Amino acid sequence: MSEQATPPSAELSLHGARILIGASLDMAGMDAIRSAAKGARIAIVSDTNVGPLHATPLAGRLGVPESDRFQIAAGEVNKNRIEWTRLTNGMLNAGFGRDSVVVAVGGGVVGDLAGFAAATYMRGIPVIQVPTSLLAMIDAAIGGKTGVDTPAGKNLVGAFHHPTLVVADPAVLKTLPPRELRSGLAEALKHAIITSQAELDWLLANAKAMLHAEGPDQAVAGALIERNVRIKAAVVARDEKESGVRKSLNFGHTIGHAIEAASDYAMLHGESIAIGMRVEAMIAEALGLAAPTLAEQVTVAASALELPLQPLLPMTADAVLAATRTDKKARGGAVEYALAAGVGTMAAAGAGYGTRVSDDEVRAAVVRAFSA
Ligand code: GLY
Repeated sequence: MSEQATPPSAELSLHGARILIGASLDMAGMDAIRSAAKGARIAIVSDTNVGPLHATPLAGRLGVPESDRFQIAAGEVNKNRIEWTRLTNGMLNAGFGRDSVVVAVGGGVVGDLAGFAAATYMRGIPVIQVPTSLLAMIDAAIGGKTGVDTPAGKNLVGAFHHPTLVVADPAVLKTLPPRELRSGLAEALKHAIITSQAELDWLLANAKAMLHAEGPDQAVAGALIERNVRIKAAVVARDEKESGVRKSLNFGHTIGHAIEAASDYAMLHGESIAIGMRVEAMIAEALGLAAPTLAEQVTVAASALELPLQPLLPMTADAVLAATRTDKKARGGAVEYALAAGVGTMAAAGAGYGTRVSDDEVRAAVVRAFSA
């Protein structure tokens, strides 16, 4: 570590990953990357948006030559096997061997795709995650899920591949577009709802500080990242491969992924998840699994976080329903929902966290949510 380096505000460990929160990418964070990558050839992977802002300066400081820097096309629509092929071909052509490490600098799309490239390249090389969006810092970079989308659905081809190091530096959020920041807050809302009323109260009390026009308050952003990484890491530590409690992290995601796909990825993940949580709360209420106040609580919280309650472009309930069918959470051909029963309580917690819901119930909740 260089002399002036400030220590991170928090350090956690999860399945071999060292997670540093609040470590500056100029100093302590960069030193940690250098030491984790020691002796390996570094492939820096970023995208066309984040590359110039964060990957190029970091690559320069790490001394990674231009030939070892890769950019994928930005946007969820490019998190696909075409970009995975382009990236892995680029690494093969550049002569990267098994003694290489991928450093993924970007949001969830970069982290998922670069992580999947690392998981599959020469049967697996290490990956270091440098998340630059709030969503990636508190969710995508934590827990080892990597993968790409396919025409049949989101994240349908992938692997569990934990990073060796995650460096979350809240300072990079200063350049994050406000819409992307709000998208990340949707995952914080999900974490709060599945955790406790106290967590939800904390999030709502700090919403304004995160939504400042001039960028999020740095101390609040650091605290929010730490709280959320701790929540997610605690769940993943109990259930790495999603056979039980990790399914609670899918609250809002069956409908959310369907909305995202039905929008052709014009809607951001968090925007879709916010609406998905509201619809799924309505489903849980209609099935008698949740208190009749849950959907209203989600509505109030999503509004406070300036998240949408309705799709940002026209879509029918049947289009959403059709898009749920390829969800990874399908078991034996039937789609399963991870429904919240209330703030801090999951439905079906004693039965694998999955609830099967009829098409009619789903359609009715989507119609209700989209019209109110
Ligand atoms: N994003 C949900 C999970 O990592 O399990």
